[in-house]
Amino acid sequence: MAGAVAPGGEGWSSRWAFILAAVGAAVGLGNIWRFPTLAGENGGGAFVLVYFGCVVLIGLPMVLSEVLIGRHGRSDAYHSVIKVAEDSGVSRKWGLFGGFGILGAGAILTFYSVVAGWVLYYVGVMGADFLGALFSGNPMAGALAAESPETIPTRMTDLFANNWLLLSMHVLFMGVTIWIVARGVTDGIEKAATILMPAFFVLLVMITIYGAFTGEFARALAFLFTPDFSKLSPSVINEALGQALFSMSVASAALITYGGYVAKETKLAPTAVMIGLTDTGVAILAGLMIFPIVFAVGLDAAAGPTLVFQSLPIAFHTMPAGSLVGLLFFVLIFFAALTSSISLLEAVTAWAKEKTGWSRPKSAWIAGGVIFLVGVACALSLNIWSDVRLLPFWPLFAEANIFDTIDGLVGKVLLPLTALLTSIFIGWKADRKLVEAETGLSGGMLGIYRFLIGWVAPIAVFLILLFGLFPQLL
Ligand code: PHE
Repeated sequence: MAGAVAPGGEGWSSRWAFILAAVGAAVGLGNIWRFPTLAGENGGGAFVLVYFGCVVLIGLPMVLSEVLIGRHGRSDAYHSVIKVAEDSGVSRKWGLFGGFGILGAGAILTFYSVVAGWVLYYVGVMGADFLGALFSGNPMAGALAAESPETIPTRMTDLFANNWLLLSMHVLFMGVTIWIVARGVTDGIEKAATILMPAFFVLLVMITIYGAFTGEFARALAFLFTPDFSKLSPSVINEALGQALFSMSVASAALITYGGYVAKETKLAPTAVMIGLTDTGVAILAGLMIFPIVFAVGLDAAAGPTLVFQSLPIAFHTMPAGSLVGLLFFVLIFFAALTSSISLLEAVTAWAKEKTGWSRPKSAWIAGGVIFLVGVACALSLNIWSDVRLLPFWPLFAEANIFDTIDGLVGKVLLPLTALLTSIFIGWKADRKLVEAETGLSGGMLGIYRFLIGWVAPIAVFLILLFGLFPQLL
């Protein structure tokens, strides 16, 4: 199939290349690190149910809307929205939400790269551990066999206490991301996705099967699928929405940008649904990979952000071949994080390139450099800058360090706001014929899509945003 011809002549070499890249964008730390963390903290089943509602009612129509904006606009998120607005005879000011998305993408990448840096560190720790086990003739050893369950979690506290180590990992991860984006759509982004994503899926299935046999699979199933509604609150629902948007990569310019490289003949609706549901499937599977292992050694599901980094290595410590599985587990997260960070940087790079006329490598290195520097502040807020407050006057963030403030601002404010504007734009402002033609939908499916994007998504997002930010209103 012919590639799309976006300005600059870049495009995916096939529909599958696009699907892999978009799934790569969607599947990331959000699925493997954040989803299990949030589900664990918020009581499991009830959170999963609300999350699933957000995916179907808001996420899927949003994925389709964004990809169609990109494909029609054939440019970065900001300029693509403007093109759709112009062709619909409405104000160019709508481009603003495209800009919000790009801002969101850059903001996410600042802390995303820091967390991905932790992952890299663990790849190193587990890699060295496995090599040690191998050379001592014991490849089936548990992870970090020479240590005790009490000292294993100090791997993470040691990392957090070591600025240089934290920053080196952040540099390394950003460097790889920039290098790939600078190589271009086909030679960089697409190539990375077509190698890393299949490898990711093989690892995911392997480790899930391993956990099912060696861990407490039935308990994990019950945990993820038995809802306890007493655990629900406006803030949990707000969190579920933010997480659904974050995980599906919507409202943050990535899918609009990737949509810009999609060929005219590609059918968007089934492609969008496939991308969205794969992302959700991976999140659930990640839960089914992680919780059986966590429960097997009696660890706490509600451990929070350290679940993956501290609890799991303790579990791998006592499990058969835990050293090898632990290494594979962190390699898997690394692959997922990299394909996502690539999409985040591409969203900003495409805009910088369009705006300034710079070459792709120059745009990628400069955009990536700025994001890297803000990321340094996120990293340092884990230790020497832990007392710095960005928004001390805003109760929601009064206690939050730089990292949590940026994360919270994006997930609770910027993404929902951008999603709201996107749904109003596509549901009410964009030319109906244009939208219909790009989606390729007709009849009942078109009606459902229109209803979801025009009514359900904006109303739900508005209410969630309102009550999430001002719980006292309830
Ligand atoms: N969806 C990615 C994840 O789950 C993160 C991401 C958000 C990527 C927004 C691109 C755009 O990790």
